[in-house]
Amino acid sequence: MPPREPADRLIVALDVDALDAALALMDRLDGLVRRYKIGSQLFTACGPAAVEAVHKRGAAVFLDLKFHDIPSTVAGAAREAARLGVFMFDVHACGGRAMMQAAAEAAAAATPPGARRPLAIAVTVLTSLDRAALQRELRVASSVEGHVLHLAGLARAAGLDGCVASPGEIAPLRNHLGAGWVIVTPGVRPAGSDPHDQSRVATPAAAARAGAHYLVVGRPITAAPDPAAAARAILHDISP
Ligand code: C5P
Repeated sequence: MPPREPADRLIVALDVDALDAALALMDRLDGLVRRYKIGSQLFTACGPAAVEAVHKRGAAVFLDLKFHDIPSTVAGAAREAARLGVFMFDVHACGGRAMMQAAAEAAAAATPPGARRPLAIAVTVLTSLDRAALQRELRVASSVEGHVLHLAGLARAAGLDGCVASPGEIAPLRNHLGAGWVIVTPGVRPAGSDPHDQSRVATPAAAARAGAHYLVVGRPITAAPDPAAAARAILHDISP
């Protein structure tokens, strides 16, 4: 089941290059946003200090570093993610079943007693890849949707909790993997707003209705003249 409260379903992407900028954004969203995504840019710039800064404000972290390496290396990274106390982290499903299983098991084993283990999420087919790239460059014969469903099934068999999915993939994944599968959806755009470089977008309400547990929103909030007003509008949009 998705979290009940709208504020528990919204994850704001802190796609900034320095801790000061992340702190300034969180100041503006204080009291509204409870979950933030830290990706490779901010983590490369300032490391675990970014995670600690979010936690200090009482919010939760989705550590979006998309681990992809041999199983023992990814297990080590997943262990550190669990020790940092993030609520969710992700790995590339194309690292294979053994790699994903090692990540999920290591994160569970490293979770301190009494704490909740982080959700382990798979990245299936990057939304920047289309059918032509998948077939000609990566030599994957199936359709994008077929490959997404295949990799998500593999992730579930490996013990992962869910996957990242673009808005159009939510319904087939929900049908294929059932209600318990956690779906995390970026590419969310309020009606009439700038799609930026996202091509397969949906409104927050449509993504939530289609069955996304979590909505990842970056620029519609972080680049808005009034980020708090933008976040408030999205929370209203996904209210039952
Ligand atoms: O600014 P915007 O709302 O487009 O930000 C979406 C966030 O979700 C970015 O941090 C982007 O890296 C991330 N993301 C994505 N598509 C994926 C996986 C992650 O847009 N398939």
